[in-house]
Amino acid sequence: MTALSLLFMAVFIALITAESSVYFREQFEDGDTWRSRWVESQHKSDYGKFVLSAGKFYGDAEKDKGLQTSQDAHFYALSSRFADFSNKDQPLVIQFTVKHEQSIDCGGGYIKLFPSDLKQEDMHGDSTYNIMFGPDICGPGTKKVHVIFNYKGKNHLINKDIRCKDDEYTHLYTLIVNPDNTYEVKIDNKKAESGSLEEDWDFLPPKKIKDPEAKKPEDWDEREKIDDPDDKKPEDWDKPENIPDPDAKKPDDWDDEMDVEWEPPMVTNPEYKGEWKPRQIDNPAYKGKWVHLEIDNPEYIADNEIYKYDSVGVIGLDLWQVKSGTIFDSFLITNDPKLAEEVGNETWGATKVCFFNYYLSILNNFSLNCNFDKISHFDVFVPLRMLRRR
Ligand SMILES: *[C@@H]1O[C@H](CO)[C@@H](O)[C@H](O)[C@H]1NC(C)=O
Ligand SMILES: *[C@@H]1O[C@H](CO)[C@@H](O)[C@H](O)[C@H]1NC(C)=O
Repeated sequence: MTALSLLFMAVFIALITAESSVYFREQFEDGDTWRSRWVESQHKSDYGKFVLSAGKFYGDAEKDKGLQTSQDAHFYALSSRFADFSNKDQPLVIQFTVKHEQSIDCGGGYIKLFPSDLKQEDMHGDSTYNIMFGPDICGPGTKKVHVIFNYKGKNHLINKDIRCKDDEYTHLYTLIVNPDNTYEVKIDNKKAESGSLEEDWDFLPPKKIKDPEAKKPEDWDEREKIDDPDDKKPEDWDKPENIPDPDAKKPDDWDDEMDVEWEPPMVTNPEYKGEWKPRQIDNPAYKGKWVHLEIDNPEYIADNEIYKYDSVGVIGLDLWQVKSGTIFDSFLITNDPKLAEEVGNETWGATKVCFFNYYLSILNNFSLNCNFDKISHFDVFVPLRMLRRR
C-alpha cells in the first residue's frame, strides 16, 4: 500500500467515524400511528393515558403535536424501541421538549433510556435504566433537572443543582455525554451545566484518603494560647450576682401575723464581676495544627469509560403527575451534538420565533409568515407574557 492510499484510508475512516447517526427521532407528525411505535406498560392496570395534542396554544397545530398526559394523579409508563446501539467512543445526545402548559404543581418531565433487554410491557419505576434525564417539579422545593446515570448497577444522581424551567411554555432539554467522560446539559439550546462525570457524580470512591496509619502524637499540642499560670484570681473577686435591695423597706402595714415573712426584693449587685478567667498567653509548647497525611485510596480504580453503555435500545416516559397536561415532543437520540442543536433550532426554535412574531404582528400590523391554523385556540396573553419575560 502506498503512503498516499494509506492517507486516503485514514481520511475515509475519519469520515466514517465522524458520520452522524440518528438512533431515534419522534416528532408525532403522522396522527395516531405513534401508537404502533409506543408501548404502554401493563405492569399496573391503571396507568394514565397519553393523548396526541398540540395543547391549548402552539406555533403550528400539526407540528407541535406531542404526547400529552391526560389524567390527574396518575402514573404513566410508555416506551418506544429503536435499534440497539452502544455509545462507545462517541457522544450520546438525548434531546426532547417539555411543555407544562397546565402550570404544573408536581410531576415528572423526564425520560429514561433503557438497555434493549427491557420488557416494555412490564416497564415500571424499578426497571433498570441507563440514564434518567429531564425536569422534575414538585412544589416550590423541587424544580430541578435530573441527570441520573446507572453505573455498575447503581443509580447515581448529579451532585450539582440544575434548575429546570417552571413556566407553561415549550422548553428544549438536551444531554450530551462525551467519550472523554465530560457532559453538558443544555436548556433551550443554551448551556445550563457542564463538567466531568467523575467530578460531578460519586461513581468512584475518592482518589485520596486520610492515611489510616497516621495518628496525631499524644503529646502534639495544638493549643495556640493557654491560661497564664501566673495569673491568679484576686481574693475579693467572688461576689454574689444578686443581693437584697439595701434601699427596700418593709411596708409599714405589713402584717407579720397574716402574711409570709417580708423579704426585700433582689437587685443586681454592682460589685459583681462575673466569672473570673485567667489571662491568655502564647503557648510555648504549641506545634501548629496537626495535618492528617493523605495517601492514594487503594479502593480507587480509575475508569476512563464511565460514560459507556453497551446497550441502549428503549426510551421511556415513566413518571407520576398530580396535575396532568404536560406535552412531550421532538425526541431525538443521536451521536451528533451539532445536529441536535440544528434540530432544536428548527423545531423548538421555530415555535418560539413564531410566537414572538405573532405578537409583533399584532403590535405592528405586519403580515405573518407563520402558520397558525387555529388562531382562536391561541391564547393572546401567552405571547404577551413571553415578550415581557425578555
Ligand atoms: C441555533 O440557533 C442559534 C441562535 O439563533 C445560533 O447561534 C446557532 O448557531 C444555531 N445552531 C445551529 C447548529 O444551527
Ligand atoms: C394593516 O395593514 C393592512 C394592509 O397590510 C391594512 O389594510 C390595514 O388597514 C392595516 N390596519 C391597521 C390597523 O393599520
